[in-house]
Amino acid sequence: SNEQIALFTIFGGTGDLAQRKLYPSLFRLFRKGFLKERFAVIGTARREWSHEYYRDIVRGTIQELEPTEKELADFTSHFYYQAHNVTDTEHYHNLKVLATELDRKYQLDNNRIFYLAMAPNFFGVITEHLKSEQIITENGFNRLIIEKPFGTDYQSAEKLNNEIRAVFEEDQIFRIDHYLGKEMIQNISAVRFGNNIFESLWNNKYIDNIQVTLSESLGVEERGGYYDKSGALKDMVQNHILQVVSLLVMEPPAIFSEKTIREEKVKALNSIRVYSEKEAMKNFVRGQYGPGQLDGKSFISYRDETNVEPESQTETFVAGKLVVDNFRWRGVPFYIRTGKQLTEKGTRINVVFKPTPINVFRDPSENACDAEDIPRNILTIYIQPTEGFQLTLNGKEIGSGFNIDPIKLDYRHSAESLDNSPEAYEKLILDCLQGDGTNFTHWDEVAQSWRIVDVIRHAWDKETPDFPNYPSGTMGPQCAFDLLSRDGFEWIWHPDEWYREHG
Ligand code: BG6
Repeated sequence: SNEQIALFTIFGGTGDLAQRKLYPSLFRLFRKGFLKERFAVIGTARREWSHEYYRDIVRGTIQELEPTEKELADFTSHFYYQAHNVTDTEHYHNLKVLATELDRKYQLDNNRIFYLAMAPNFFGVITEHLKSEQIITENGFNRLIIEKPFGTDYQSAEKLNNEIRAVFEEDQIFRIDHYLGKEMIQNISAVRFGNNIFESLWNNKYIDNIQVTLSESLGVEERGGYYDKSGALKDMVQNHILQVVSLLVMEPPAIFSEKTIREEKVKALNSIRVYSEKEAMKNFVRGQYGPGQLDGKSFISYRDETNVEPESQTETFVAGKLVVDNFRWRGVPFYIRTGKQLTEKGTRINVVFKPTPINVFRDPSENACDAEDIPRNILTIYIQPTEGFQLTLNGKEIGSGFNIDPIKLDYRHSAESLDNSPEAYEKLILDCLQGDGTNFTHWDEVAQSWRIVDVIRHAWDKETPDFPNYPSGTMGPQCAFDLLSRDGFEWIWHPDEWYREHG
């Protein structure tokens, strides 16, 4: 049977994340039979709620999935609420009593998952109490799921990690990067290691540059308070983008396992150059959105958003060039960019291959070195909102004469349209239940990502940026385009027509 057995304790159980992501994901797991009789959930937060009130809230969060009355009743009967102040030792005692009772009632084998869906400044105090008040069990599994941000720089991340590691072993810690739960991110490995035609070309002999774009059309919405202290570099680059890059850069593992993949990803991250501040200034640029238009709608500037400083210097856009100092990638730039309130929502990877050595189709009067290149082959990996691949090849244009015509092989589907496609959080929670840490970030990866990002942040902090510098609804500031043209490249980006038609 697929049935998983565990008690979830969710700290921050009344919060936005729990309501938007966790409860619907748990329900999907319930519906698919991964959670049956032997699970229970304790939601904790400061407010005083009854079990009933909490269950009503949980009900509300899964309405979209159109549960039957019976499903609703069965599922929510496993939910319990405990008012909890994380610094109050007495409250942990109450938690322990409830946990023990539920353990007995649902036969949970002392398996416990602690989900910290709240601000990281409380992680230390919570984990310490979980141990001292013996909420961590002796003979079941104990796993900790934590959300980003994992620190705000290397030092704070290390401090946080030490606090957690005083209680949990590394293999009990599941640090969520929800990008690693996305179907197509996992597919990067399938494309690379399942296709000899790509992996044998996956190096500096055949690849010119690789581009990773995480474009968002939304602004900061209600998260201005958090975002204004973070900015795009820490919000997106330190975690999601560097994770994606490490999957593109890594060597093939001998066998696909948690341990081997982690080792290869760490090696990959370690081979990304940690810039000097001077290099960082040259290779990373930032932007902040001003007012603008998108699809006929008007958007306000970042500085006018709620809970954002009127003179804010926080970046809502980053573009940069990463250099990978190893045999495979020497000389191949990895260009990355991400931003809010851009032209469209889209996460894509473009692998741009080198041109053919010469253009044999050139005009005979032309010198081989002066002839224009034949268009490059490009492998585009579409991550979201559509998922799939596109390979740009060259064929002969129909007709007399001999003209080269780029053609596209395109495979696409829209995950949103596939009923059964598991949402990232659902997959990650199931992985944790099954004890599989492959799609979580390990400390070595987090640490190295901060080292890469910290220098950029420090360099930027020494100068006052000229913000806002891009209108909402565009693909970012001019400096992001200059970054590539300087190297003789350009960003590859076409509106996702497929999505407009089928998505
Ligand atoms: C989060 C960031 O980690 O990722 C958000 O904090 C961002 O600012 C989000 O909007 C993007 O995730 P997705 O899945 O919508 O691409």
